[in-house]
Amino acid sequence: MHSLQTLTKSFSAWVIFCCCCCLPLLLTSPLPPKGPGLASTSHHACRLRKINFQQPYIRNRTYTLAKMVQVSDQDTDNRFIGQQLYVNVRENNRCYMMKRIVEIVVKDVLLTEVKDRYPYVGEVAQFLASLTSELSRCKFSGQKEHMEKNLEEMKSKMKQLGENGKTKAIGELDLLFDYIENACTDTPKKGVNKKKN
Ligand SMILES: *[C@@H]1O[C@H](CO)[C@@H](O)[C@H](O)[C@H]1NC(C)=O
Repeated sequence: MHSLQTLTKSFSAWVIFCCCCCLPLLLTSPLPPKGPGLASTSHHACRLRKINFQQPYIRNRTYTLAKMVQVSDQDTDNRFIGQQLYVNVRENNRCYMMKRIVEIVVKDVLLTEVKDRYPYVGEVAQFLASLTSELSRCKFSGQKEHMEKNLEEMKSKMKQLGENGKTKAIGELDLLFDYIENACTDTPKKGVNKKKN
């Protein structure tokens, strides 16, 4: 009886010891160090590595697909990918903006029935989706309304053009490729940015 009580007591003590000391230790030790590391990841959340755009294979596929489809796009009045997207959107938010546009193009264009109509669509869609998933933690900073308005304009134009809108968006994949590269990598191509100022 007496020894059982001691056993129970020492067992409870052990449980309490475990909860108070071991558990917190267990929970905290595997976490990566916080502080400067965390700050720099949020700073780089809207950044893609240049290497993503330096793979000749996927660049060639994207450009080839775009060029192939451009011949069947007679409408020169409308343009989805262009400087109008950036009207009233600060430079540091442009990568976020391009992420949203890539998401729209992948979902509303590339993953629809057009994927059986042209070659390389699947590969290009996969590549673009990999970029947006790398940018998953990229957030907009500040007032979103101008950006949302520009996005809405693009979406409604695309809807209004119907099938031709999809064709146009595919024909602009080369532009999209360049725009996301310029907006999301650290060393923008010379010429493109310089002329703007
Ligand atoms: C893609 O690669 C093929 C074969 O390597 C080449 O003939 C073609 O010109 C390239 N296309 C573009 C748009 O770079």
